[in-house]
Amino acid sequence: MKNTTEKFGATPHQPSLWTRADALKVRADDPTTTQPLVSADFPVLNNDVFIWDTMPLRDLDGNVTSVDGWSVIFTLTADRHPNDPQYLDEDGNYDILRDWNDRHGRAKMYYWFSRTGKNWEFGGRVMAEGVSPTAREWAGTPILLNDRGEVDLYYTAVTPGATIVKVRGRVVTTEHGVSMVGFDKVKPLFEADGNMYQTEAQNAFWGFRDPWPFRDPKDGKLYMLFEGNVAGERGSHKVGEAEIGDVPPGYEDVGNSRYQTACVGIAVARDADGDDWEMLPPLLTAVGVNDQTERPHFVFQDGKYYLFTISHTFTYADGVTGPDGVYGFVADSLFGPYVPLNGSGLVLGNPSSQPFQTYSHYVMPNGLVTSFIDSVPTDETGTQIRVGGTEAPTVGMKIKGQQTFVVAEYDYGYIPPMLDVTLK
Ligand code: FRU
Repeated sequence: MKNTTEKFGATPHQPSLWTRADALKVRADDPTTTQPLVSADFPVLNNDVFIWDTMPLRDLDGNVTSVDGWSVIFTLTADRHPNDPQYLDEDGNYDILRDWNDRHGRAKMYYWFSRTGKNWEFGGRVMAEGVSPTAREWAGTPILLNDRGEVDLYYTAVTPGATIVKVRGRVVTTEHGVSMVGFDKVKPLFEADGNMYQTEAQNAFWGFRDPWPFRDPKDGKLYMLFEGNVAGERGSHKVGEAEIGDVPPGYEDVGNSRYQTACVGIAVARDADGDDWEMLPPLLTAVGVNDQTERPHFVFQDGKYYLFTISHTFTYADGVTGPDGVYGFVADSLFGPYVPLNGSGLVLGNPSSQPFQTYSHYVMPNGLVTSFIDSVPTDETGTQIRVGGTEAPTVGMKIKGQQTFVVAEYDYGYIPPMLDVTLK
């Protein structure tokens, strides 16, 4: 990957580029980077709600953390409407696919707990109705701050606008379960600025969300990753030599790929508590390659920075493609340069026979990858599907240098703790 000096000229670091040449190396169905088939007879966590993006409770170093022996996950969640006339088809049957596809507009943050790191018990909503300032509570990260059980939940307040926010509360445990208290005052942190990160005014399809705060293992400072698009009016971006990369003859035509402008954003905290943030230029851009690099997150391993982000087939640009799944990049220092893992960036994709079986993969430092089930075909032609809205089987992965390998499959929603904190 090459760095571009065009847009971020006078900045402290140059974003690394995921190039069209890198993306040409993406191979769906390579068994080392493909998620095992999810069977259509999967169990459903809870029949009253859909769940999708899953956010394990963790510390600022990335370790998945249980409290007093209780594992805790947060999920984006929406009610299912099997009896709502709005979601009945002409024959009076529940149109679950339409209900599922509408879920983003009513996403709320819920939590679940477990003694075993699976078979999650329903906790409830994290914030009471009316606390969050916008209609949608979109993805983010719950951080366990200390052994008093204080939790900072960073998330995205969406519609109107898209603002990275945080809300503080406390996790409380008993012998019988876990509850969340507080979470009653939401603090806005920042929005897209239009200079580095694209705003809604520049592009109605802009993305600005999914905060992932962390402590840099090398400099000890508090940073945050997030999803963005590169600033500029929609259609004004240039897909030049740097963005194209080293392509074979005949692959120079970039079509309409200027409309795909994803990036992984980064901000640095000006204070120890993470209440005051400064946005920095993106770590990674995908101009001319893909329009969404969602839920970016790190695994710190062997002194390296493994940057993971989820993306879709439908968000790829003209002339390049790849499966829905998680993509990754590695660098020796926080600000790069990043190179795509496995040459292409693809780390764990859906098999082409079940292209929507899972999404929103989250790679944990123990190599386990959690995701949710979207939809699985129930017949040979793939026209009949079963909608998920529940946890997918966890995949085990090995990360070695610039390569990754699928090595194991575990139970549905298996998210074991990496450390336990006894609350005082
Ligand atoms: C990923 C995602 C996130 C967003 C949420 C909205 O599945 O698109 O980027 O926060 O889902 O539902």
